[in-house]
Amino acid sequence: MNRPHPPIVGVFDSGVGGLSILTALRRTINACRFVYVCDQEFFPYGLQSEEELTRRVEQLCQQVLAQFPLDYVVIACNTASTVVLPRLRGQLQQAVIGVVPAIKPAAQLSRSKVIGLLATPGTIERAYTQELIALHASNCTVLKLGSTRLVELAEAKLRGELISSEEIATILRPLSQDPLLDTLVLGCTHFPHLLEELQAAFPRPITMVEPSEAIARRLLTLMEGASHISLAEHEARDEDILYVTGPPLPASLIQAFNLGILFRKK
Ligand code: DGL
Repeated sequence: MNRPHPPIVGVFDSGVGGLSILTALRRTINACRFVYVCDQEFFPYGLQSEEELTRRVEQLCQQVLAQFPLDYVVIACNTASTVVLPRLRGQLQQAVIGVVPAIKPAAQLSRSKVIGLLATPGTIERAYTQELIALHASNCTVLKLGSTRLVELAEAKLRGELISSEEIATILRPLSQDPLLDTLVLGCTHFPHLLEELQAAFPRPITMVEPSEAIARRLLTLMEGASHISLAEHEARDEDILYVTGPPLPASLIQAFNLGILFRKK
């Protein structure tokens, strides 16, 4: 069914991490308007309990939906997706797309069958993550590393602060010291913002796997199924909206990601 407006897609994260997903969505899909939800007030998600995080994301979705008639919800956060998706899908009428660690493609790509999973402490501990590994990487050794500091460093980098490559190399040492590891799952949407620094922390080239393109293809498929994509010709795409909880984001960051209209939760 065609809608009178281009589809509206909510993209949710605790901070700037989901911008790595938003970038891929924008590259693939022209025919919609995005509402980027940056839940800084509750940052970092990776240190919240599963119960608190589930409650928070449920409430936040309701708050955003009260303001914007979202057609699709993208939880652009592994830490949230690995725990809240079943509840959200039960509650919302909209299609909910999650972002979870790309264990399966990494296991397929690895030649040595030693892969790393870099994520938040929350994602590393999730039963869902263990299930993904058991299901798709039982033939691999999976070295897991959880770090909140790396999330903070990604936030700092996007805010224009200088970050230390040495610090990142030190954090990565448990993985970079393994001589066989050849593939690294970026299991947090903040980490593609640190791609160069992460690569530099290894003494040899490593295949980095992150799911943003796959998420964009998934959303496109859903839109095509709902005939939303017939709005591709819709002229003059509306400006995307930034919805922030907590302190404001720097103007330079808002500009760099071309997020026009700012909506701040009181
Ligand atoms: N960007 C998030 C993820 O993909 C969460 C980071 C955090 O707030 O801890 O896991």
